[in-house]
Amino acid sequence: MELKGLILSGGEGTRLRPITHTSAKQLVPVANKPILFYGLEALREAGLRDVGIIVGDTEEEIREAVGDGSRWGMRITYIRQEAPLGLAHAVLTAADFLGETPFVMYLGDNLIKEGITAFVDEFRSKEVDALILLARVPDPQRFGVARLEGNRVVELVEKPKEPPSDLALVGAYMFRPVILEAARAIKPSWRNELEITDAIQHLIDNGYCVEAHVIRGWWKDTGRLEDLLEANCMVLEDLEPRCDGEVDGESRILGRVVVEEGAEVIRSTLRGPSIIGRGSRIVDSYIGPFTSIYYDVVVEGSELEHSIVMENSVIRNIPGRIEESLIGKNVEIARSFDRPKTYRFMLGDNSRVGLI
Ligand code: DAU
Repeated sequence: MELKGLILSGGEGTRLRPITHTSAKQLVPVANKPILFYGLEALREAGLRDVGIIVGDTEEEIREAVGDGSRWGMRITYIRQEAPLGLAHAVLTAADFLGETPFVMYLGDNLIKEGITAFVDEFRSKEVDALILLARVPDPQRFGVARLEGNRVVELVEKPKEPPSDLALVGAYMFRPVILEAARAIKPSWRNELEITDAIQHLIDNGYCVEAHVIRGWWKDTGRLEDLLEANCMVLEDLEPRCDGEVDGESRILGRVVVEEGAEVIRSTLRGPSIIGRGSRIVDSYIGPFTSIYYDVVVEGSELEHSIVMENSVIRNIPGRIEESLIGKNVEIARSFDRPKTYRFMLGDNSRVGLI
């Protein structure tokens, strides 16, 4: 069966502001790889070659990072959604690209450890109109939630106050083209979005067959800071250590650490799992477990743990340990020894700073 892929990488990312004021949340690096790339890899592994990416205001940045898809042996088509009006709206925006072909829809901010190959294969082998992916979660009210009878889905609700089960919708869906009709038939929800859950419910109510596939491995929707840091921990857990950069004799590497090409580690301790990106310099510092330092970063005289630092940032002479932090691109955090002793900030809207 020919299948297309549709990755949703538009939206606003309100929960990751200020990072998302200027950047796409789908491009935040987890273990030094943009989240979106994990999705592209999952689609490629499932055998998909023809993939559309829904983009919004961050189109340019996403195009630049992903290119034409040849790196993954894929053909990428960019599809502009004029505003983030919902997941079902995104599907409608892609109607021309999708045509009459069944497809997998993948949410660009989701990370699914086991990939989607088994899920896609199950759809290929069945006659169902839609197949949804579910996972048991402790906090279903944060997600779309499904009620099942056997394998069949009988009810779907978006972010319910009283969830009918603990089965959350994971961000991958398989559809036959009839979903387009359903998306055209529904009305916007209370949050003014055309919800994919409503479109699927519309299929169920009209006698179409919707089944579910439940995953057991970990999965993360990286929309919030704590989930993003947790996703980073989970990917780093499986890190294969290697050193392609330079580590001097006064430095210590403990546990599983990756030092990428052109990175320099001087008089520092790195405790894995952690990763130091290409061209970064770690001097007189401690990089603790579950930390990802992206490329061309400078860390001097500082300690970091359980954090993600994005490209071109500088962290210098910070007296306390930085923990559970997400530091954006081109950020500078430095201790100044000037008098008077004052704090000096230039922070974007919705920034968060915790001082000791
Ligand atoms: O992560 C799983 C959850 O994703 C599901 O359990 C929910 O049922 C589903 O509605 C969705 O909920 P979120 O509220 O987390 O969706 P979010 O707005 O974060 O959008 C998911 C992705 O789709 C994200 O990469 C942005 C993109 N997007 C979103 C909207 C609303 C678009 O490309 N266009 C849009 O209009």
